[in-house]
Amino acid sequence: MPHISATDLTKSFGTLQAISNLHLSIEEGEFVSIIGPSGCGKSTLLRILGGMLVPSSGSVAIGGGSPQAAQSRKQIGFVFQDPALLPWRNVTSNINLPMEINRGAPSGVGVSELLDMVGLKEFESFHPYQLSGGMQQRVALARALVFDPSVLLMDEPFGALDEITRGEMRYELLRIWEQRRKTVLFVTHSIAEAIALSDRVLVMSRQPGQIKADIAINLPRPRMEDIELTDKFRAYAKDLKDLLK
Ligand SMILES: Nc1ncnc2c1ncn2[C@@H]1O[C@H](COP(=O)(O)OP(=O)(O)O)[C@@H](O)[C@H]1O
Ligand SMILES: [Mg+2]
Repeated sequence: MPHISATDLTKSFGTLQAISNLHLSIEEGEFVSIIGPSGCGKSTLLRILGGMLVPSSGSVAIGGGSPQAAQSRKQIGFVFQDPALLPWRNVTSNINLPMEINRGAPSGVGVSELLDMVGLKEFESFHPYQLSGGMQQRVALARALVFDPSVLLMDEPFGALDEITRGEMRYELLRIWEQRRKTVLFVTHSIAEAIALSDRVLVMSRQPGQIKADIAINLPRPRMEDIELTDKFRAYAKDLKDLLK
């Protein structure tokens, strides 16, 4: 059974059809990216899979059940482009916020372990304004992992970062993912990001969104930054660029 699936999924907003007859199947522990033009329905798809929006028709499942059920068992972690940290809380208490809101929820990972994992141990008492954009996204990632979810849904999490930080963050994320294999669905505009991170890259067509290509990325893991200089990486980049034209 796939860990994440969508069957004949359609989503309309009034007369606008955002997603049309989309199929998707992701295995447990897979890292899959979605790439596609702006407005093709990537965020809408992620919101449906996260249980924040209901489909117009068709169905989706997480671990064989509804996204809402997975969400209430804290099985889904989210990271968005905006880290959405509370400015008056320090790093530790931002990471801990979901725990405070959901008392009685299964305690997953301790905050100090999370701080270690995302490399922010020395910054635990800093406030968001004292952190760079990359560090703020590390906090958002740690917060998403606090219940130790089995699924991570990431919507352009590095989209607002400068090019250099963005290039570093993808390998940081991979390092963390190697430690704790989650099933990840990662939305991005960046071809290099998609290739570097993924087992598979799904290419979406223009509105109404459908998956028009499913490209397996057969590059060895663990991956380091220099993989982007290899011929094989460049060949994938060229294929994806052509598909996105
Ligand atoms: N809540 C909404 N109400 C109306 N239209 C929406 C809503 N959310 C998204 N849309 C529209 O659906 C389409 C897909 O949006 P979105 O999923 O955000 O695209 P992407 O993330 O690929 O850029 C766009 O045309 C957008 O304007
Ligand atoms: Mg979007």
